[in-house]
Amino acid sequence: MYSILVVDDDELGRSMLKLFLQDAGFMVHSAVDGAEALQTARSEAPDVIITDALMPIIDGFELCRQCKMDSSLRHIPIIIYSGDYDREEDQRLGLSMGAFRYLLKPSSAETIVKTVNEALSESILTPRTDSDSSLDEQMQVLRSYNEVLFNKLEAKMQQLEESITRHQKSEEALKVMHSQIIQQEKMASIGQLAAGVAHEINNPMGFISSNLTTLSRYAERLDEYIARLHQSLESCPSHPDTEEIDAMRKKLKVEYIISDIRELVNESLDGATRVKRIVQDLKSFSRVDQAESCRVNLNEALETTINIAWNELKYVATVERHFGDIPDVVCYPQQLNQVFLNLLLNAAQSMEKPGSITLRTWSDDSGVCVSVADTGKGMPEEVRQRIFEPFFTTKEPGKGTGLGLSISADIVHKHAGDITVESEVGQGTTFTVRLPLASPTIALK
Ligand SMILES: Nc1ncnc2c1ncn2[C@@H]1O[C@H](COP(=O)(O)OP(=O)(O)O)[C@@H](O)[C@H]1O
Ligand SMILES: [Mg+2]
Repeated sequence: MYSILVVDDDELGRSMLKLFLQDAGFMVHSAVDGAEALQTARSEAPDVIITDALMPIIDGFELCRQCKMDSSLRHIPIIIYSGDYDREEDQRLGLSMGAFRYLLKPSSAETIVKTVNEALSESILTPRTDSDSSLDEQMQVLRSYNEVLFNKLEAKMQQLEESITRHQKSEEALKVMHSQIIQQEKMASIGQLAAGVAHEINNPMGFISSNLTTLSRYAERLDEYIARLHQSLESCPSHPDTEEIDAMRKKLKVEYIISDIRELVNESLDGATRVKRIVQDLKSFSRVDQAESCRVNLNEALETTINIAWNELKYVATVERHFGDIPDVVCYPQQLNQVFLNLLLNAAQSMEKPGSITLRTWSDDSGVCVSVADTGKGMPEEVRQRIFEPFFTTKEPGKGTGLGLSISADIVHKHAGDITVESEVGQGTTFTVRLPLASPTIALK
């Protein structure tokens, strides 16, 4: 029985060859690299060696060369079986280094067994000679070997670099996605929380308002009654208590109290109405009930968002509205509110001195547009180019996350719209969001 030595650093490659050859009736030895192959060849004296080319320690080419230099191994035909070196020069080098044949991976079991059989008959037919090739020839072969190795190394390095870059890119993308998800979830849960609190505030606000209205009516009646008492007291100056009651009236400032009660109640009613409006805005801003798509008028969405951001805006800017008569858009309102909020906050944060923020809406054939223009500090070209990058911020740590615009752009793109910016240093910035009336990706639920 002929024995074959299979050399491959890849376990699967070794097992496949072993299977094919054993099936064909050969005895099979195996080795994981050229160095182990040399040892096994010396101890087992195989009839044919079939070896991979690219392997650690000693590769297939060097294995050929060393076998051919060793008088006890020189007669063993070697088949190089490789997928890594597929250029013609590589194959020529293999043959010039003493390989019997160069087979390209993957080859069929049939081809492999056939080639092994050919190698066997060739080695039986060819008498063993001890003729060594000349030094010149050997040098030439070594030089080509070096060249092939060098080329391979370069190609492998490039592959490695490419795969590292790919890896880094996907890692970055993953990081960005992760923080965007966190940010969006945070917004969603803040929205939910706000809507919950708003709901809780709504109930007591209801009876506070209604009680205040009743109180105001009662005060009026009391006022009327006291006025009447006063009148009747004045009409009988002989009454023993008149003086004392008058003094008391002055001391207790009853006149003032009566007029102030009316003011206090009115003020409180006004406050209650404001709280109600804030609660209403909070509810419609977070739109927990509308996490799904619906038809929305963006003028209303903007109004709500202004109210939510009011505390951040009121000290730094006046807000001007130039709202056009625009049709409704099919969208995720909760998400668009987040976009408008980001734009408004950025505008407010760009103010170095009190200025103005102008909101415009209009519509054209392609859909609805919203612009947010500020008279803030503007941005230079190198900043403008990077503002949509996740984590890009010029704000101090803790103030900016650099996620606002990247998330906003994401949301707008998801709505099949676009977001553009114009800015001039020292003059201000205008962001324009353009949205189609309905986007193919957002179905009305
Ligand atoms: N209206 C604006 N005026 C000037 N610069 C702006 C404006 N909006 C955004 N920027 C610039 O874009 C950067 C990124 O904005 P953003 O993504 O919202 O992150 P952040 O506000 O957390 O910094 C800001 O740090 C700022 O430099
Ligand atoms: Mg921001």
